[in-house]
Amino acid sequence: MKKIKVMSVFGTRPEGIKMGPVVKALEKDDRFTSVVVSTGQHAEMLQQVLDVFSIVPNYDLKIMKPKQTLTGITIETMSRLEPIIQREQPDLMLVHGDTSSAYAAALTAFYNRIAIGHVEAGLRTWDKYSPYPEEMNRQMIDDLADLYFAPTTTSAANLQKGNHHRGVTVTGNTAIDALRYTINQDYHHQVLAEIDQHHRIILLTMHRRENWGRPMEETFKAIRKVVDQYDDIDVIYPVHLNPKVQTVANKILGNDEHFHLIAPLDVVDFHNIMSKAMLVMSDSGGVQEEAPALHKPVLVLRDTTERPEGVAAGTLKLIGTNYAQVIAELTALLTDKAEYEQMSAANNPYGDGHASERILEAIAAWAESK
Ligand code: UD1
Ligand code: UDP
Repeated sequence: MKKIKVMSVFGTRPEGIKMGPVVKALEKDDRFTSVVVSTGQHAEMLQQVLDVFSIVPNYDLKIMKPKQTLTGITIETMSRLEPIIQREQPDLMLVHGDTSSAYAAALTAFYNRIAIGHVEAGLRTWDKYSPYPEEMNRQMIDDLADLYFAPTTTSAANLQKGNHHRGVTVTGNTAIDALRYTINQDYHHQVLAEIDQHHRIILLTMHRRENWGRPMEETFKAIRKVVDQYDDIDVIYPVHLNPKVQTVANKILGNDEHFHLIAPLDVVDFHNIMSKAMLVMSDSGGVQEEAPALHKPVLVLRDTTERPEGVAAGTLKLIGTNYAQVIAELTALLTDKAEYEQMSAANNPYGDGHASERILEAIAAWAESK
């Protein structure tokens, strides 16, 4: 029987983490030929992920530039990807989530009449500029896609609202599959060795475009204000490589002994350090899926979320980026034992860690029905 050729296109850290388990499953399954294209939207931060999963892309578009723009990412991805699509002629292109390179890849596939599968389809805030540009990227990918791998019934319902009624499979989120590769009970790291074992650890990340500038500054100042009042709290903050983030993080948090500002962690380190933390503060998307699976409360540093399941389950709390609000919410979580226990006891709504298998079965059924 002819194999199904699946071209997976991804290039940022979170796409790599959540496509890693899918690519590994494709590689092991005789029904498929897997071709991996890295857009290279992230250089170093993606390489960390590829190393963890032992994935060697067949092609690397190497688009990353300092101060890259959304338009630049889109144009470079499209013009460099098109000849590869034309050479490889895949049966299906898989893209993930909502980055600008994922949208550009999907559009290039459509122009070349290649079918598109969207992993992590159907996430929505229904707010055009929040998160920006991700909300429109994912809506536009869903307008182009043929197969939709929705992580939850909520995301499947969002697809229905957008008139995407065919080709939808609820799979769970592949972020939970990734945890099966990374969590290690007997884990050690230098940054943990430097922290008194009786101290409470907060894991912090922040990078979103809509938080650049004042929201990020206010948030960091608020966290510092609270944390400096305690002598038993350490904040581990692996700082995103974007210079816009690095500058503010170093300026506000760089010279405080409570704050461990370190380079981005590889995903094995990040997941294991999260599992040792007391709580997480983040504006990340993927972190909002992983933390509930590890029973870690998350104060979400955003005004909107496309992950309402985690809020409903009780693990995530949307607190925004206002100085007074961040102080109040962080203080409450550090002092109110009942609130902390309620948040950490919640159940993970993002699946059982077998999303990749369901994605492969849905692709195989689709190929057979053609
Ligand atoms: C991108 C995605 C965002 C996703 C995030 C995950 C878009 C528009 N944004 O945002 O959806 O949440 O990735 O982290 O697709 N840089 C490096 N080395 C790296 C990675 C980044 O130096 O390995 C620096 C470069 O200077 C680059 C800058 O970071 O220009 C910004 O990267 P970019 O991909 O444009 O934006 P992110 O904020 O990372
Ligand atoms: N992550 C990582 N190292 C870090 C910080 C985050 O491996 O130092 C992982 C994290 O586990 C999650 C993903 O990166 O899977 C989230 O990426 P990011 O916050 O950059 O993007 P988003 O999910 O917001 O698109």
